[in-house]
Amino acid sequence: MKYYITTPIFYPNASPHIGTAYTTVAADAFARYHRMKGDDVYFLTGTDENAQKIVRTAESKGMDPKRYVDGIVERFKSLWEELDISNDDFIRTTEERHHKVVKALFTKLHDQGDIYKSEYEGWYCTPCETFWPESKLIDGKCPNPDCGREVELLKEESYFFKLSKYQDVLLKHIQEHPEFIQPVSRRNEMIRFIEGGLEDLCVSRTTFQWGIQVPFDPKHVVYVWLDALINYISALGFPDGELYKKYWPADVHLMGKDIVRFHAVIWPIILIALGLPLPKEVYGHGWFLSKEGGKISKSRGNVQDSFELIQRYGSDAIRYFLLHEMQVGTDGTYSEDNLVERLNSDLANDLGNFVSRSLAMIVKYRNGLLPKASEDTALEQELKALSQEVKAKVEERMEALDPAGALESIWRLVARMNKYVDETAPWALAKQENSQARLDQVLHTFAEAIRIFAILCAPFMPKLPGKMLQLLGVDQEMLRWEEADHWDVLPAGIQVEKGQPLFPRIDLSQWKTEGENQNVNQEQNNAQQSTEKLTEQAQDQTSSENQISEGKLEFEPIKEEITIDEFAKIDLRVAKILQAGKVEKTDKLMKLEIEVAGEKRTIVSGIAQHYAPEDLVGKSVVIVANLKPAKLRGIVSQGMILAASQDGVLEVLTVNKDLPGGARVK
Ligand code: MSP
Repeated sequence: MKYYITTPIFYPNASPHIGTAYTTVAADAFARYHRMKGDDVYFLTGTDENAQKIVRTAESKGMDPKRYVDGIVERFKSLWEELDISNDDFIRTTEERHHKVVKALFTKLHDQGDIYKSEYEGWYCTPCETFWPESKLIDGKCPNPDCGREVELLKEESYFFKLSKYQDVLLKHIQEHPEFIQPVSRRNEMIRFIEGGLEDLCVSRTTFQWGIQVPFDPKHVVYVWLDALINYISALGFPDGELYKKYWPADVHLMGKDIVRFHAVIWPIILIALGLPLPKEVYGHGWFLSKEGGKISKSRGNVQDSFELIQRYGSDAIRYFLLHEMQVGTDGTYSEDNLVERLNSDLANDLGNFVSRSLAMIVKYRNGLLPKASEDTALEQELKALSQEVKAKVEERMEALDPAGALESIWRLVARMNKYVDETAPWALAKQENSQARLDQVLHTFAEAIRIFAILCAPFMPKLPGKMLQLLGVDQEMLRWEEADHWDVLPAGIQVEKGQPLFPRIDLSQWKTEGENQNVNQEQNNAQQSTEKLTEQAQDQTSSENQISEGKLEFEPIKEEITIDEFAKIDLRVAKILQAGKVEKTDKLMKLEIEVAGEKRTIVSGIAQHYAPEDLVGKSVVIVANLKPAKLRGIVSQGMILAASQDGVLEVLTVNKDLPGGARVK
């Protein structure tokens, strides 16, 4: 199947930053995933160069606009290279191949009466490149909640595009194709917007000359959004190009929520007017906000040099962080502290440590030669079932354009594998002569899990699979998506090596000045301390080997004795989870709506790093039902969910028989 995915084309008025990188990294993950699934993928990105703000910025620097954008476009291209973006083309709207198509289509729309000449009198926000009627302004400023800057009064002869004429056809299309605008919140927003009535759109400017000239009236240049949207087909060589014939309509136009309106209203109406097929899906993700809350953007001055970040942490870690932090339908928070915390916990501890520990054991107990698998026990059967579930879930999440959900699923298997290491205790098996076949099976399972992680992580972290497969001593051909839930792929006898830790643990203080250091918050320190033990193993191979052979676990001391009457005061009940969702702007908290004894309650629980919300809905869990309510992040939590945890592995206690919410637990 063909799969055509696009990012917005970026304004090269300033260098790209981590916020703008998100869309491109996410589109890249989808493109890589579809390639692995065997689809014929075309992935387009580029730059939107004919904007008035480009002229303004270039002028303010005393530069010719073209020379100015040439420099910035190179920055975009090299950032994409550094981030391993696998785009098939990069379109610049200053290219002749694009100009040609825009001119032809503008003329066609004019000739068929959909573009007409009139006079525009109203306001324009140059930073947003948007026309606003007076009625929409807020205190005389740009009403875009992310902007709020000064607008300029325009009174000029302009061409207009008859958006209003196509309003009903578009609405019908949106209603008949629920997948056309996603996620649902954006779709509802757009429906409301269109139902509010569309006004004809001003589509040309006469007060500057930078841009694409209207061929039959050269004192006009085409409005930058009309010009920009056309890139999605001009890059394919519309109308006769082979690429156009093969890949149009686009399967996904991916973008931030601020520009869904242009893609879900103006762009489809252009296509409807031209009699061309509409893209299958327009998807608007949230923004990356700074810790203080504002959108990460150049104009807010809260951006960090992306190149420097990649140098410090590596592109895989940056990609992982970005993809993990953006949950469907909400915004993500970016801060270097969060980035490091995520890198240390998920990559260095959970995944990296599993890989180092298990390879170290194959080296130690079998001289690095992968043993043959013997017989599965119930444990391995469980892993197989889980891997099938995880692969299916990753596929479902990737189809739903939810990389965060896909990663969370993969990390369920990562957590399960870490638990498997402790459950099977290979260091103990190694000491018993009659357990050698069992040890072979366990070590083989470790290696298969590493291969599976290499496959599952490949769309998200392109450098990682090569490193993992190299440690296993096998080549890239092993990256076969369909084998991500197979456990008998690696040939016995291959030579594995311990190698270096895949993700060395980062000490943020090494990048900070002394003053900044004092601000590294306590929460992060705590989280780091609790995971310290495992990461030290990953960094220090010698101590890792000792720990492995001893298999020591540090348990919390058992608390002082209580009487049965004291225990009876705790009212434990089965509760059914009706809804679950992450608490915004936190990593750890999940908000759960539960039903207990005929009552609905809200419980906030610190389990968000261990479960995806959809994995919890429908489960029967055990709660402390008579715990005094407490406020967590402004939400009143009416009870507590029981969960078992040790060394970073956490499992919520569930009840499997059909007991109603409210059943006593004692
Ligand atoms: N040039 C237009 C797009 C034209 S597409 C035919 C444009 N460019 S932009 O450079 O301003 O923004 C490009 C994309 O970056 C948008 O999808 C925008 O939402 C996204 N982001 C910019 N800052 C962002 C964050 N802080 N977080 C996430 N995405 C962000 O709009």
